[in-house]
Amino acid sequence: MPVTSPAAPAPPAVPPAPDRPDALPQDFGTLLSQDPEIAGILLAERDRQAGTLQLIAAENFTSPAVLAALGSPLANKYAEGYPGARHHGGCEHADAAERIAVRRATALFGAEHANVQPHSGSSAVLAAYAALLRPGDTVLAMGLPFGGHLTHGAPGNFSGRWFDFVGYGVDPDTGLIDHTRLRALARARRPKAIVCGSISYPRHPDYETFREIADEVGAYLIVDAAHPMGLIAGGAAPNPAPYADVVCATTHKVLRGPRGGMILCGAELAERIDRAVFPFTQGGAQMHTVAAKAVAFGEAATPAFTLYAHQVVAHARVLAAGLEAEGFEVTTGGTDTHIVVADPAPLGVDGRTARERLSAAGMVLDTCALPYGDARGIRLGTAAVTTQGMDDGDMARIAALFGAAVREPGDVSPIAAEVRALAERNPPYPG
Ligand SMILES: Cc1ncc(COP(=O)(O)O)c(C=O)c1O
Repeated sequence: MPVTSPAAPAPPAVPPAPDRPDALPQDFGTLLSQDPEIAGILLAERDRQAGTLQLIAAENFTSPAVLAALGSPLANKYAEGYPGARHHGGCEHADAAERIAVRRATALFGAEHANVQPHSGSSAVLAAYAALLRPGDTVLAMGLPFGGHLTHGAPGNFSGRWFDFVGYGVDPDTGLIDHTRLRALARARRPKAIVCGSISYPRHPDYETFREIADEVGAYLIVDAAHPMGLIAGGAAPNPAPYADVVCATTHKVLRGPRGGMILCGAELAERIDRAVFPFTQGGAQMHTVAAKAVAFGEAATPAFTLYAHQVVAHARVLAAGLEAEGFEVTTGGTDTHIVVADPAPLGVDGRTARERLSAAGMVLDTCALPYGDARGIRLGTAAVTTQGMDDGDMARIAALFGAAVREPGDVSPIAAEVRALAERNPPYPG
């Protein structure tokens, strides 16, 4: 039975026209004549992205404006430190770009403080831990077998090496976070911090209950909103900022910015967070990326982005329903977000085989853990296909193509041809 988690925001009343990216800004001519070997690879990747379906839940197509900022002369600039307090000269324009990025981020997410320098989502989480924890501290986070990220205690990651991570899980029947067990675990282990966030949880976390549990045991609440941050920006997912001590995020998923990270917090933790980013865990910020983040935050504040974020969720719901109709078992019975997790076992294959067959047909996605057992499922997201301008009908067709590709391992060329035609009808960078 479909399950709806709390506080799913209502869609916007009057939808403005959807935004569509224009043509790519880069002129590959110079690169082609100077370094055809690398230019060839970049063009091949451009064609791969345009000729297949990008359904990896963590990916999206940034706008030409974001790409222009990334390819700008700010890429040349060293700017260790923060605006007005740099270790390098000539930072007046870098300072201006960072101030705008911070101002836009705090306004967009209603936070008192934003640090826009983390090089990635992992760097943001590292800095949050560095600000709040000491090596050896106990931290509660979603267990990796249930969808926790590497930075939530994986043995091969700094988090698993330096902290005592205790994993919480989801209910094997509903796939939802079991708050009763989470509370019991928190009471028993008295963690210094609780991390709320996942790579594959398709529902809205109940931030209020996480806050309550953290307060009860005297723990910090760190929300790793790497995945839903764009939905939050567009009002299509609840905002964790009022509940969390620190919010970590990526800027490149649904948020549609450059690859990078960011941290939000209240004024009382601002200085600790800033020092944890620079100089504790990073050197010079990548100022071209900071400028590109500012561009993305500006885009995310528009009515067009609000519509986009709600479309992303609507499309994921159509896809989830279509996959169920094809025989896949969709975890939690659906989705509130851009993420759909499905078990292909009823079709007679595991997640890895399904991914291979889908990939052969031009549909690119990941495998992921399932709430029950050791078998892997598939994880897909609708951020990129929605940016391309695809609609509900396209989502329903993609679900049917999934069923065909996974069920019929023979000649996939007719399916691949239809996938290519669908992708080419909706170019990510038309023009
Ligand atoms: C929940 C979560 N945290 C952190 C990260 C890390 O982001 P990055 O790959 O930019 O380091 C991800 C990336 O997918 C994520 O999903």
